[in-house]
Formats: sequence, structure tokens, C-alpha cells
Amino acid sequence: EIAGGRRLAGELRVSGAKNSALVLMAASLLTEDPLRLRNVPPLTDIQGMAEILTSLGVSVRRGSDSLEMNGSGLSHSAPPYELVNSLRASFFCIGPLLARLGIARVPLPGGCQIGTRPVVEHVKGLKALGAQVTIEHGVVSAVVPGRGHRLTGGRIHLDCPSVGATETLMMAAALADGETVIENAALEPEVVDLAGLLLAMGAKVRGAGTPTITIVGVQRLHGADYAVIPDRIEAGTFLLAAAITRSCLTVAPVITEHLGAVLTKLEEAGCKLEIDGTSVTISADQISAVDLRTQPFPGFPTDLQAPFMSLLATASGTSVVTENIFENRLQHVAELQRMGAAIRMQGNTAFVEGVSRLSGAPVQGSDLRASAAMVLAGLAADGITTVQGLEFLDRGYADFEGKLNAVGASIRRV
Ligand code: EPZ
Repeated sequence: EIAGGRRLAGELRVSGAKNSALVLMAASLLTEDPLRLRNVPPLTDIQGMAEILTSLGVSVRRGSDSLEMNGSGLSHSAPPYELVNSLRASFFCIGPLLARLGIARVPLPGGCQIGTRPVVEHVKGLKALGAQVTIEHGVVSAVVPGRGHRLTGGRIHLDCPSVGATETLMMAAALADGETVIENAALEPEVVDLAGLLLAMGAKVRGAGTPTITIVGVQRLHGADYAVIPDRIEAGTFLLAAAITRSCLTVAPVITEHLGAVLTKLEEAGCKLEIDGTSVTISADQISAVDLRTQPFPGFPTDLQAPFMSLLATASGTSVVTENIFENRLQHVAELQRMGAAIRMQGNTAFVEGVSRLSGAPVQGSDLRASAAMVLAGLAADGITTVQGLEFLDRGYADFEGKLNAVGASIRRV
């Protein structure tokens, strides 16, 4: 429940990146040594991944913002359906399980609100590394035939720069026999973070962050103590909280190279940014319309399309927002319209005509970033906004209302 119209002031701390921590946790399956991750965000998705690893025999111990995992007890090759079904990221286990055990049975990750979320590229790549993969009754079964069950390095060309496929194949290739080349790889910072962890574990990886990643398999990987990068999507969401309330806020830590497209768009919309190392101070009084087209990194990130649209609903002028990554990630438009936003839809494009004031209303968040977008809209709206769908919000934002209330928002979890 959000009482809108309040100005914010102060500093917002950014937690570790959810979309990095989840895949780094899966890397614990690649070694028998202890793996320690620091700066891990306290999110329900992280808890879910810990349960999946535990179900496979990995011990997981949680510190205040760290995780200690030990994969020496790995005894199963099939996480249970009910756990996987609730957490798509559990599919990250298939690559490491194949690399370590030569066998994996992982339920097909369901689609979700934003799209069908296929894993075609992941499966094609695992086959290129020598795995036999079948999909029956919603379960992906993979096995490495022959002696020693070791995958064999090979050349993979991804039809689309899939983040999950790139990460899955990097982990599978790390223990394969020989060299693997992944072409048209995703460039996201989370891919580079995974490469950093694999290198710390003794893997031979080069080219992460470029379209061609080369991995030379090794016999075994050792443990590591590694810090997760800050969450660029949480950081972007906080910057938008300042912009939509026309406030001055400091957001830290931010690795600005991870948010280039977003920082540029915020300035184009009229925000002032002061960057001091990993600290960004944003101030905004007049916000004008800008056009957005979501793209793979380094283009504008699809995960900030909904939060940014909330801002554009209050800008002066008409913005054109095009969602190019997911086929169904504009469901927040209907909810913003309930708050008085003037938005016209045409396929995957929204024409957002800014209004001077949104009005508080009961609204529904449809995925974790749309839920965050509705909270942002509530911060700027007249009166009370109630947002349903907090189970989505809690997947991607640790203590979202606590952090915003600490800088002057009035949000109550009912
Ligand atoms: C990751 O999902 C993120 N999740 C998503 O964040 C993010 O939106 C997405 O990357 C894009 O940046 C995690 O890292 C856990 P993709 P992923 O495979 O790996 C199509 C959030 O809000 N595609 O790069 O599933 C696919 O349909 C979440 O934190 C194929 O067509 O994304 C989609 O349209 C949401 N065939 C596009 O590529 C394939 O085989 C991007 O998917 C695989 C993907």
C-alpha cells in the first residue's frame, strides 16, 4: 500500500545481482571443493536455488550476505519437479550436472507471464558437446555416452544471444575434453561475472563479454571465494524511483558500464547524473518523453522496460516503447492505464502520452519487474495505490519497501 506524492532523499544501497548469483550458485556443482559466494542478495529465488542444490546433495550454508556451498556430496542428477517448476533458474543445473556426472534429468522450465522461455539453444549446444538429449513428458534427459562420460568440446553457434544458454554452455564446457567455442554468445555483465568465477575456480575461459567465448576444458575445478556483482536492474529501478518522484537520490554501488543505455536514457529524459566511482547521484525536476527499444546487452535492458514506462507515463510528451526481447512483457500497460496513464498499444509497441498526475488505484503486478513498475507509479500517484503480486516482487528485490521507506517513501506491506 503506497501513499504517493512524497519526495525522496538520501542514499539507496544496491544488493548483489540476482541474475548472477543464481547461475554462480549452480557452478558449485562443478567442483568437490567448497565454494563461497559473497554479496548474495536475500531473495526468495536464491532460497529456491539453495533448496534445489540441497536436493542434489550439495551442502548450502547461508551467512548474512554470503553462501557456503560444498558439492562434494553431489549424489543426485535430477532435482525434484516441484522445486524446479517454481524456479526457472533451476535449469542452470543441467550443464554442471552433465559436466560432473555425465547425466542429468531436469524438468523443462515452465514458461512464465512474460513468454514461453524456450531452451532450444541450451539443448542444441549440449548436443554439440556430445550429450544425448531427449525431452519427454516435460523432462529434459541428457546423458554423455561412452567411457568416462566426459563431454567433448565443440563449436556452437547460438541462433540468438541467449543469456541462459551462454551460461549453461560455459559451465558444461569448463570440464569437457578439448576446446569449445560459443559464437553469438550473450554479452550481459552476468555472463562476464560467471566467467570471472569459473576462472577463479581454475577454468580456462576467454572472450566473455564478446560475441565469441572460448573455453578449454580442464580435468577438475577447485573451490573459490567470489563476490557477486551489484544488481544493475535493482540499481536502475532505484534511479527511476528518484526520477518519477522528481527527487535527488544517491544509488550505490553501481558499475556504470553495466547501465550505459539506461543512464543515457535517463539523461535524455532530463535527469541530472553525478557519477563518483560506483556512486550515482540523480536529480530530476522536468522529465520529457524519450523512445525506448529493448535489446540484448549493451542495448536497453528488457528488465527495466516496465519500470521506465512508469516514469514515461508522467513525462511531458509522447514516448514510443518497443519490447523486442519477450513476446508478452507489456502487461503492466493495462495496470498503468487504471492509474490514469494514457497509453495506446500496437503489437509490441506502446505509445505513452505523459500525464501530469497519475491517480492511486488497486493494481496487479504480473512479473517481478512489472510489480516494481507499479510500486514506482504508486510513489508518484495522487492518493493510495495498492499493488498485488508481491510474491513476484520478492523474487527480485530484497526489502524493496524497507529501502524506499528509508529515503522517505510511505509504503506498507499489508
Ligand atoms: C535472463 O533470462 C534473465 N534471467 C532475465 O531476467 C532477462 O530478462 C533475460 O536474461 C534477458 O536479458 C536470469 O538471468 C535468471 P534469454 P533468460 O535466454 O536467460 C529467446 C528478470 O526479470 N530465446 O536471453 O531466460 C527468449 O524467448 C528475468 O530478472 C529463444 O528464442 O533470457 C527470449 O525472448 C526475466 N530460444 C530471448 O531469447 C532459446 O533457446 C531472451 O532470452 C533461448 C532464448
